[in-house]
Amino acid sequence: MQTLQAVRGMNDVLPDEAELWLDFEATVQDWLARYGYRNLRTPLVEHTALFRRAIGEATDIVEKEMYSWRDELNDEDLTLRPEGTASCVRAAIEHSLVYDGPKRVWYAGPMYRHERPQKGRYRQFHQYGVEALGYPGPDVDAEHIVMCAALWRELGLANLRLELNSIGSPEERARYRAELVKHLEKHHDRLDADAKRRLQTNPLRTLDSKNPMVQEVVASAPSLLLYLGEASLAHFDALKRLLAAAGIEYRINPKLVRGLDYYNLTVFEWISPDLGAQGTVCGGGRYDGLFAQLGGKPTPATGFAMGNERLIALLRDSGRKPSSRPPHGYVIHQGEGTLEFALKLAEELRAQNLRIVLHAGGGGMKSQMKKADGSGALYALIVGEDELKAGEVSVKPLRSGGPQLRLAHDAVANALKGS
Ligand code: HAM
Repeated sequence: MQTLQAVRGMNDVLPDEAELWLDFEATVQDWLARYGYRNLRTPLVEHTALFRRAIGEATDIVEKEMYSWRDELNDEDLTLRPEGTASCVRAAIEHSLVYDGPKRVWYAGPMYRHERPQKGRYRQFHQYGVEALGYPGPDVDAEHIVMCAALWRELGLANLRLELNSIGSPEERARYRAELVKHLEKHHDRLDADAKRRLQTNPLRTLDSKNPMVQEVVASAPSLLLYLGEASLAHFDALKRLLAAAGIEYRINPKLVRGLDYYNLTVFEWISPDLGAQGTVCGGGRYDGLFAQLGGKPTPATGFAMGNERLIALLRDSGRKPSSRPPHGYVIHQGEGTLEFALKLAEELRAQNLRIVLHAGGGGMKSQMKKADGSGALYALIVGEDELKAGEVSVKPLRSGGPQLRLAHDAVANALKGS
């Protein structure tokens, strides 16, 4: 029979690798708590209309990357979430989360985009997302960037660079858009199919085209920054001052517009040179219009999300080993009645916070001893018929040369803890 495999672009994470994930997650969650962010959990499935409205009809995500289907049972159009900000704002509106003041929240979990899979780009990937709801900035804009820098330091990732831009207000962007379209149309013959199509729908996306010929056309286009009004410039200047004061280095990239339509003012990306084409490990920005766009009370907000697969790949490539948590003991048992005793012993030790693996699956003393060794455990805890009669356990060190001891069963925990 043909064996079944995981869906393309959706990865298993096997235990060796998952240990690195657990370390990463523990570090990130600790860091989030230190900045006063609280967890928010939303469903993986939302109404399709949420993402269409929030992310924008003329984006890659909505045009071609969403896993959407019609739920015939309920007559609803549903979608697996391609990102977390839309759900977060939907939940905040639905539960009046910011009625008594602004909130700092984070979320984590899988996101789904039907992209062409390649290294660093998957159809199921995982994000940590951070959102500050109800803050006009630029103070929280700076907070987000500063906290990212702190996380990279803590993870030992020295090689990430920050790109920053301000894309102004919707009105400023509309004026710029008209000028950009004029410029692109002048060079119509050098645009590719995507750029031509986007002339009508989303010309700003052409600014970060990967096509060298289109990039040349874009290089001579007017800069979006020249179209910002006083208020937008003041916001951007204040942010830059705060970053300078915090000692954060950045490059202003006037072509950085991001792939989702809800942004205004601040946008940023953290990019690694070590990941090839999929080098952006974290991206975000301000989305002051999104609450109103989804039917809520106008509420300023800003946030970012990082891609776990990309960050963990950087950790792995830098030689990071997961923190080692070998079992303290591996319980071996042989003879009539010893399994019952061993089961109880293992539970007693676990209740003392020790990591204990109980041998399962039968086999002689020698083969059980081999398993104990292979488990990485620090001690073999041997229960034979002799030990059973005396209510004792033989404790054999597996990683140090010490002597084998015979201890009363209730003295084992202290011996293991003392090791
Ligand atoms: P995004 O730039 O679409 O933003 O995604 C954020 C990060 O998720 C990316 O920088 C990347 O590391 C990771 N990522 C995205 N797509 C994939 C993929 N196919 N495979 C692997 N990793 C991927 C957002 O999602 C916004 N919601 C961020 C945000 C939060 N803006 C404001 N608040």
